[in-house]
Amino acid sequence: MSADLDKIAIDILQANDLGGYTIPTKGLYPYQWNWDSAFVAQGFATFDVNRGWQEIETLLQGQWDDGMVPHILFRKDDPTYFPGPSVWGTQNRALPSSGHSQPPVAASTVRLLFEKDQSATSVERLRVVFPKLLAWHRWYHTARDFDGRGVIAVMHPWESGRDNLPDWDGPAARVDTSGVGDYVRKDTSFVNADMRPRKTDYDRYLAILQFGRECNWDAEKIARDAPFYVADPGVTFIQLRADRDLLALAHALAETAALPEIEEWIARAEQGIDLLWNPDLGAFTTLDLRSGAHGEGVSSASFLAPYAGITTAKYLEPTLAHFDRIMSKVTYGVPSYDPDHPAFESMRYWRGPVWGILNYMIATGFAEIGETERAERIRKDTVALIEKSGFAEYFDPISGQGAGGNSFSWTSAIWLNWASPSRHQQAA
Ligand code: DGY
Repeated sequence: MSADLDKIAIDILQANDLGGYTIPTKGLYPYQWNWDSAFVAQGFATFDVNRGWQEIETLLQGQWDDGMVPHILFRKDDPTYFPGPSVWGTQNRALPSSGHSQPPVAASTVRLLFEKDQSATSVERLRVVFPKLLAWHRWYHTARDFDGRGVIAVMHPWESGRDNLPDWDGPAARVDTSGVGDYVRKDTSFVNADMRPRKTDYDRYLAILQFGRECNWDAEKIARDAPFYVADPGVTFIQLRADRDLLALAHALAETAALPEIEEWIARAEQGIDLLWNPDLGAFTTLDLRSGAHGEGVSSASFLAPYAGITTAKYLEPTLAHFDRIMSKVTYGVPSYDPDHPAFESMRYWRGPVWGILNYMIATGFAEIGETERAERIRKDTVALIEKSGFAEYFDPISGQGAGGNSFSWTSAIWLNWASPSRHQQAA
């Protein structure tokens, strides 16, 4: 069974490879997505390290002059996706792209690639990508932490990668959608509408996009005036992990000039994350930087603290208590939102379903701090979901049913790089 699934996962990555870059799935997502590519590279690297590097290199081709790496690269126009290149107002950039970023997983991937193969060719490739990653991280620490608080904000729910998380509902409700006009969604022609964000969400997504386009994606204007600007534990923890990985790469290359800057980012985040601690809930949540309000629910990103190297007992003990409570409520973990919260919906995108990439990151962090039983529960649940429902985009935590797109690249990638029993036996 496991060997068969290994083969299917490889076939999916190869079928979604459009020639040096990979789409998440056919139909629903016909372009290159940022954090998808970072996970995909890890999957490719299990059987072709060169192809893993290439995925990161093609992603970085879309980097803007200010360092930002966009969340979507529109290499060729495909009318089956909305909002496509003409909507974003980014025609003069390196490649047609969206106007904001996505969780910066790439440096963590590059560290994995480099540790697999430290040949002279790998060192050369690392030398080329390192300054680009450094510039992207610098962009995040300035553009999206404009006041130097040590937490990373998102200017759009799409920037978080967790599009319709219930924690965005409150901040996004203030977005004026009166100028959005008519538009036709394409996503619901591929996937059941019950598994996707609602129309209210899309109206807000488009209004925020219009704001970004009108200010030409200017970081200062966004930080000061964007209708949505919310500090996100997901991006903040992924960034902190990626900064630690970038620091290790800087050491490997003896890039001593870069060390103090990266160390400063890490120190600032280690202090800053306290802002994301919701003391009433005893969990890391979002923080609306306009209103000062914390998110009111525990999301799967609350469990990324160990992945980011945060091990302080004050945070860890309540976090693990939430984890155990939540896992006792579902057949398959880790749900993207707390099943005890009224906003939980088991099949609707980021309002409840299980996502393999989150499982991989949460379990990696847990294993690194010695929480091996919890890490194994997550891995085994992931195996059970994929065995039951295939390489779906996401899964219902109660029934195990697959949801969203099929033959999904990042689910295949985390299978190959982490969940697969054959991989696990190799590691043992
Ligand atoms: C989508 O189109 O649903 C994507 O998540 C946006 O990044």
